[in-house]
Amino acid sequence: MRIVLLGPPGAGKGTQSKILSARLGVPQIVIGDILKAQVSRGTPLGVAAKPYLDDGKLVPDPVIIETIHERLEDPDTDKGFVLDGFPRTVPQAIALDTTLADAGTPLDVVIELVVGRDDVVRRLSGRRVCSNCGHIWHVEFDPPTVDGICDVCGHDLIQRSDDNPETIIRRLGEYAEKTVPLTDFYAAQGKLVRIDAAGTPEAVTAATIAAAEPY
Ligand code: AP5
Repeated sequence: MRIVLLGPPGAGKGTQSKILSARLGVPQIVIGDILKAQVSRGTPLGVAAKPYLDDGKLVPDPVIIETIHERLEDPDTDKGFVLDGFPRTVPQAIALDTTLADAGTPLDVVIELVVGRDDVVRRLSGRRVCSNCGHIWHVEFDPPTVDGICDVCGHDLIQRSDDNPETIIRRLGEYAEKTVPLTDFYAAQGKLVRIDAAGTPEAVTAATIAAAEPY
């Protein structure tokens, strides 16, 4: 089962890819999390990527393609994966297709989470992330029992540094310019399934699983 989740910042890719990965028994690969871990560790990749993450701009294609290529060589991807946040440009999509074609394991389906701009701004502005386990919360739509504390592990919740109004606008601009063309790219391959992601998390989960199940 090889799935790509597409959608604008805040569409719910992280929320849904975690559920889908557990349900299907394949790894959830979140390129944004891989990059942030490299930034925290101060690796050469992290140092190169940090200014782009801070600005809400996409990290250059060659760096991202190499990073994903290496991750897809890990044996846990043998049975498949849920890719969250990759590809985000047509060159990235072409590189992924080439890698998977060489391995004889093409993508099964690309699920686009469709949600409007007002909803994503509201979701991003209220998102809180656990500083320890990374669980995603929302102050309004999915609040923890105790304000600011993760129910899962008891550690503090933080607001992502790129979830501020100016950076959110830049991230949405990057999405519109560089990632939206991927919908035509995958529609032409007959692999695109669009689902309404404006509903509750549970409703979106049901639609996402229904989109993945035939494969
Ligand atoms: P990344 O971390 O991937 O950020 P993103 O794509 O902007 O996506 P988000 O993580 O912000 O949102 P999401 O769709 O996962 O939503 P979530 O489930 O958290 O990338 C960060 C940066 O890394 C990029 O800006 C770029 O610099 C770089 N990068 C990454 N990939 C790259 C690539 N391929 N090429 C180049 N550069 C790259 O949900 C959001 C909130 O809404 C949460 O609080 C959640 O609880 C809530 N929520 C979720 N679903 C619902 C719902 N149905 N109803 C109500 N609330 C909901």
